[in-house]
Amino acid sequence: MSRLESMRRRLTAQIDGLNWAARQIEGMAGDVLELGLGNGRTYDHLREVLPKRRIWVIDREMNAHPSCVPPAENFLQGDADRMLMQMAQTGTRLALVHYELGIGVAEKDAAKSRAMSPLIAPLMVPGGLVISQDPLEGFEPVAGPDTVEGERYLFYRA
Ligand SMILES: C[S@@+](CC[C@H](N)C(=O)[O-])C[C@H]1O[C@@H](n2cnc3c(N)ncnc32)[C@H](O)[C@@H]1O
Repeated sequence: MSRLESMRRRLTAQIDGLNWAARQIEGMAGDVLELGLGNGRTYDHLREVLPKRRIWVIDREMNAHPSCVPPAENFLQGDADRMLMQMAQTGTRLALVHYELGIGVAEKDAAKSRAMSPLIAPLMVPGGLVISQDPLEGFEPVAGPDTVEGERYLFYRA
């Protein structure tokens, strides 16, 4: 498979995974968190499929496309671990987290996602979902949409 085809598969999995998660949390209380704004592509998708939810965004940098800059009151700029602790202190409760802090280096990314897991867990409402390309700990792994192959995207329930 060429890198181009691999990229298409990853993007399709991401879109299908986000759409699936948005449907799963229908009727569930709680906000949404985009963990890793980057260019803003997945944030843009989340706000399109979840227009009524408050979507918090964490990133240490602001590099989003101008059309994908979150409202200032929802953007927590800084290191994710510190920002997650701040959210816990202010009592934020989340129905959905999309985790994408990885840089594409599997071992380093997995170590980071595992380290972030205990900071994400206390924010989740019971039954809330975390979806991620990197492995998390302390959540129940669940099957995502049929169109997404097992290892390509990971789905967890709090
Ligand atoms: C792969 S990009 C996110 C891509 C984004 N979801 C999109 O669709 O464009 C990862 C982002 O995570 C941020 N990041 C990585 N580690 C971080 C950390 N420990 N704290 C805060 N931000 C971090 C980087 O600055 C980068 O913007």
